[in-house]
Amino acid sequence: MPDVYPTIVQVINVIKCYLTRFICGLFRPVALKASRVNSKSERSWVSSLTNKRILLGVTGSIAAYKSAELVRRLSDAGATVQVVMTDAAQAFVTPFTLQTLSGRAVHTALMDAEAEATMGHIEQARWADLIVVAPASANFIAKLAAGRSDDLLSALCLASQAPLAVAPAMNQQMWLNEATQANVASLASRGVKLFGPAAGEQACGEVGPGRMLEPAQIVEMSAALFETGQLAGRRVLITAGPTQEDIDPVRYLSNRSSGKMGFALAAAAVEAGAQVTLISGPVALPTPERVTRIDVRSAEDMLAAVQSNLDGQEIVIAAAAVADYRPLQVATQKIKKQAGSAQLSLEQTPDILEAIAADKGGLFVVGFAAETEHLEENARLKLEKKSLDMIAANRVGSAQGGFDNDENALKVLWPTGGAALPMQPKEKLARALIEMIAERFDAKNPTKNS
Ligand code: PMT
Repeated sequence: MPDVYPTIVQVINVIKCYLTRFICGLFRPVALKASRVNSKSERSWVSSLTNKRILLGVTGSIAAYKSAELVRRLSDAGATVQVVMTDAAQAFVTPFTLQTLSGRAVHTALMDAEAEATMGHIEQARWADLIVVAPASANFIAKLAAGRSDDLLSALCLASQAPLAVAPAMNQQMWLNEATQANVASLASRGVKLFGPAAGEQACGEVGPGRMLEPAQIVEMSAALFETGQLAGRRVLITAGPTQEDIDPVRYLSNRSSGKMGFALAAAAVEAGAQVTLISGPVALPTPERVTRIDVRSAEDMLAAVQSNLDGQEIVIAAAAVADYRPLQVATQKIKKQAGSAQLSLEQTPDILEAIAADKGGLFVVGFAAETEHLEENARLKLEKKSLDMIAANRVGSAQGGFDNDENALKVLWPTGGAALPMQPKEKLARALIEMIAERFDAKNPTKNS
């Protein structure tokens, strides 16, 4: 009998394993769909998390231990992660662990004077590009469905316009309960994304649906949310940054454009599925992933680069701050300091946008307008004078928005209407503008879309 005993145990284990796999198979669709979608082009999807601000909500579930890995994987994918924990979550994992991994103080309380002083909860709600609640307990899902806001995380979910995703984690009976299913259906009908749950063996020993998806799957599904497909297959040319117009071998005329707005547009267009060529003046920014970048210096160089890359493009977005004037003559030697004042004669540079729009054919042309006064009137004049399909007007020269700021606001105009995009980080603003461009492009080209 002692010799036979281990064999019996092994056989029982094998049967248990097959039984578990069989039962999991019954609940497979959700998990399988996620992993199938994810394996498609894992690398490129994950890269769309670069520079994204993810607010990770952690609620009370044994799966909270997986949040540590989730924070690390999101950070590895280039996202900035702000963790917010409920009281119940702190019984499973400490704020200190998640703070160490995210590099940011974890927020836990709604009425926390110290946290409010650094970043108020409304500010946190605005900060996020995406809120992911993982694990999301049955109780927290019920709170969300009811629209309650009696703790920091539920208040943030209610106060934010960012997309919200929940990764449920609970006992299988709790998940299958009609109340939970009704809550989940209600959240789905409001556009909340559901990540899982997976099915399998649970911490309580039961088997069934309710397991939180693995961190890698949550990361990939989060990344996929930024890949909108609104410009799938479209070819987009974007200009960005300043131009430099030489005065002599060591001096030039330029402006304060950092290139941030144009580069954010390039990244957003790629996320929307476009093939992007970015023609940039001198800036100190890394090239967004999957973007073809061409560096230029002067307005003349930029015009030449635009013209030789225009063939086959469908959309042009001119976010570059092209110098309007350049020195009439470029001195071949450094100009010597002389007594008294100096004169510099200037001539106009070629207007790149006007040249493109004059012969645009089916091209959809979007210009920018940088104005210090009469924003809308001046922008509409430029829209009409340059025969543009759309113009994005921004106020420049003030402390907020415009040149070399991380944030900006736009008044977007097209021949038959317009819309305002409020002050926000340039990455977010770019995504909103790309969405508008895609809509107007589709309205202008109904057959291309059918
Ligand atoms: O780069 P950042 O620091 O992020 O700042 C962003 C920005 C303020 C530079 C950007 O949002 C912006 O407003 N870009 C356009 C700046 C500008 O040159 O505006 P404008 O109103 O002077 O020109 C109108 C349009 O004509 C622009 O699309 C411009 O690219 C284009 N233009 C202008 C002159 C010229 N010679 N050729 C052009 O193509």
